[in-house]
Amino acid sequence: MANRYQVPRGTQDLIGDQVSLWQQVENIIRETCALYGYSEIRTPIFEYTEVFKTENDSSDMVTKEMYTFEMGDSSFTLRPEGTKGVIRSFVEHKMYGNPGELPKKLFYMGPMFRHERPQKGRYRQFHQFGVEVIGAKSPLLDAEVIALGHDIVRRLGLNNVRILINSLGDEESRTAYRNALREYFRPYLDELCEDCHRRYEMNPLRILDCKIDKDKEFFKNAPSVKDYLNESSREYFEKVLQALDDLGIPYVIDDHLVRGLDYYSNTVFEAVPVDAAGQQAAVFAGGQYDGLVNYFGGGELPGIGFGMGLERMILLAEEQNSLKADSGNADVYVISLGNVATYGLKAAQKLREAGFKVDMDYQGRSLKAQFKASDRSGARAIVILGEDEYAEGKAQVKDTVNKTQITVSFDELTETVRKMTEGE
Ligand code: HAM
Repeated sequence: MANRYQVPRGTQDLIGDQVSLWQQVENIIRETCALYGYSEIRTPIFEYTEVFKTENDSSDMVTKEMYTFEMGDSSFTLRPEGTKGVIRSFVEHKMYGNPGELPKKLFYMGPMFRHERPQKGRYRQFHQFGVEVIGAKSPLLDAEVIALGHDIVRRLGLNNVRILINSLGDEESRTAYRNALREYFRPYLDELCEDCHRRYEMNPLRILDCKIDKDKEFFKNAPSVKDYLNESSREYFEKVLQALDDLGIPYVIDDHLVRGLDYYSNTVFEAVPVDAAGQQAAVFAGGQYDGLVNYFGGGELPGIGFGMGLERMILLAEEQNSLKADSGNADVYVISLGNVATYGLKAAQKLREAGFKVDMDYQGRSLKAQFKASDRSGARAIVILGEDEYAEGKAQVKDTVNKTQITVSFDELTETVRKMTEGE
């Protein structure tokens, strides 16, 4: 029988130095969101299935990859992405109620679940940082959202991430384009996979990123969305590009970028490492959505956002060596000898209160074992307490760099350690 005492396929434990890298990435993300005026939203990890399985959604994510389970009379789904839950919450809490407070600029960070085939950078439980800006539509906003993603990539020290951008146009443009795609693919229906037959009916844009069919010869001449944008969609897109130019954010227009999810309109974008093979590698991706808020009952309000895969960001940071794991070193190690362990803990607490990272021995081990442990802890200062020190209310403090050792009163301990760790 397969060993079940291990992480499920497509998931991972984060242990050791990894955790420190994650924390750094999360901190940089939070700091950057604060600079851009985004506030955090935390929605449940599972929702009623209807939240994700919106009518006519033909995406692979919704039709094939969701972790759905029944409980009582209800069906629930582990969230495969952040957007729909956030919009559900936005509407449920009537955040649209005060137009003066719009747009609402929200961010979230946490695990998402998709039953995909695991490979490098693709997991079944993965973590997304995402933003959603709801209730305003402006090319400036589109540019700012892309700038935020770009800024985070830059702050993480990552090079060679390219932003691909396209416009799917407004409803009128997309309808014209969908019709053109149906027309174009009709003679090739026999050569398309079963899923594409469904896509042909529901949303022929999806055919364009079919993993099975997309390399077929006749895909090369498929109509391009840019030829179906109406005047206002074209102008809007040009303004977005102009704003990106003004901000000095490099991008590449990709006429074939349609994105894997169904709700997009107008601007769509993906950030991909330059040497990436295939689309799976996008580190962040998103776009505008005109219909979702209305779908959930919140009226005609536009939205725009992106999701950023944290595992992919961390893989890149590791490849490019752009982040260093925090050593987790202690500043001080407390050694206690004889029957004075409580005195040791008291010293440790006093130093912790003063802001030092302190580790200590809890088991009355030999002096040699405790010195070894202090070495491993990386501490600059070692506090040594024996029965004499306890009796006299004193402590010995050793500087591991200068190799000096002095005896001080318990009251002077903090000051002595401070001078030592500051290298005086
Ligand atoms: P998405 O393109 O499906 O969009 O995912 C966004 C990002 O999440 C991807 O670019 C990738 O970095 C990461 N990601 C997705 N699936 C996986 C996976 N299986 N393993 C590892 N990383 C993954 C969305 O989810 C939209 N909700 C984005 C959005 C927000 N659009 C508007 N607002």
